[in-house]
Amino acid sequence: MTQKNIERYAVIGNPISHSKSPLIHTEFAKITKQILSYTAELVEPGQVQNFITTFANNNGKGLNVTVPFKLDAFELATDLTDRAQRAGAVNTLTLKDNKVFGDTTDGTGLLNDLIKNHQQTIKNKHVLILGAGGAVRGVLEPLLLENPASLVIANRTVSKAQQLADDFSSFGNISACGFNELDNKQFDIVINGTSASLSGDLPPLPDNLFSEHACAYDMMYAKEATVFMKWSKQQGADTVLDGLGMLVEQAAESFYIWRGVRPETKTVIKMLKVKS
Ligand code: ATR
Repeated sequence: MTQKNIERYAVIGNPISHSKSPLIHTEFAKITKQILSYTAELVEPGQVQNFITTFANNNGKGLNVTVPFKLDAFELATDLTDRAQRAGAVNTLTLKDNKVFGDTTDGTGLLNDLIKNHQQTIKNKHVLILGAGGAVRGVLEPLLLENPASLVIANRTVSKAQQLADDFSSFGNISACGFNELDNKQFDIVINGTSASLSGDLPPLPDNLFSEHACAYDMMYAKEATVFMKWSKQQGADTVLDGLGMLVEQAAESFYIWRGVRPETKTVIKMLKVKS
C-alpha cells in the first residue's frame, strides 16, 4: 500500500498539539498489525463540516473529536448510535458511504478502566459523581447499566445535576444534590467529572466521604496527581486513580469501531505513564 492510499484517521480539536491520541492509535495499529495513519488536526471554529468533507474525500475513514467540537460533531453526524444520542455528545466519527456516523466511547472507556484494569465492581455500590457537564452526561448510562445501589450526581449548579438525574432516571437509581448536601453521606466510588482539576481547584467536599475500601477516580489526568487525587488520599480512599486509563480505553473502543479489532491496552497505558 502506498502512502497515498493509506486509510487515514485523525483527532480534531482546538488546541490539539497536546493530544496523546496520535501516539495511542499509532501504537494500537502496531499492536494489531493494521496499516493506517493517525494525525492530530487543528480545526478552526466553524470549519468542522468543511474539514470532515475534505478529510473524507482524501481517504479519511474516521475522526476522534475533542474540545471544543463534541457538540458540533453531534450536530453534524448524519447517523447517531443510541448511546451517543442519549449522551448528547460525539467523540468518534466514522466516515463511510458519504455518511458521518457518530458514537461516543467515553463511557465505555471509564467502565473498562475501572472494571477491567482496576478490578472495581460497580454493581450494588454507592457511587458519587461530581459535576454535571458534558463529561458526566457521557458516562451516566454505562454506569447505571452496571446496577449500582445508587448513583448521586453532586454539582455546584444543582439544577444541572437535577436535569441529568431526570434525563437518566429510567436507567436506574439516580439522584442529584449540591456539594453542601453530602455531609454524613459515604460512597464506595467517587468520580470527579468536574473541570475543577484543570484550574487546580477542588469542589467543596466534606470529610468522611469515603466508605471503607473506597475508590476515587479523577476523569482528568496530569503529570502530577490532581488536587482531587491528593485530597482523596488524605481522606483515606483505598484506590486513587487518574483518567489516563480512561483516555486509552476510550481510544481502544474507537479503534474497535473503525477497524473491528480490539487492541490490548495495558502496554499503551504503561508507555504513556513513562512518557508523561
Ligand atoms: P465538560 O465538558 O468537561 O464536562 P462543562 O460541560 O463545562 O465541561 O462542565 C464542567 C463541570 O465542572 C460543571 O459541572 C461545572 O459546574 P457548574 O455546572 O456549576 O458550572 C464543574 N466545575 C467547573 N469548575 C468547578 C469548580 N471550580 N468547582 C466545582 N465545580 C466546577
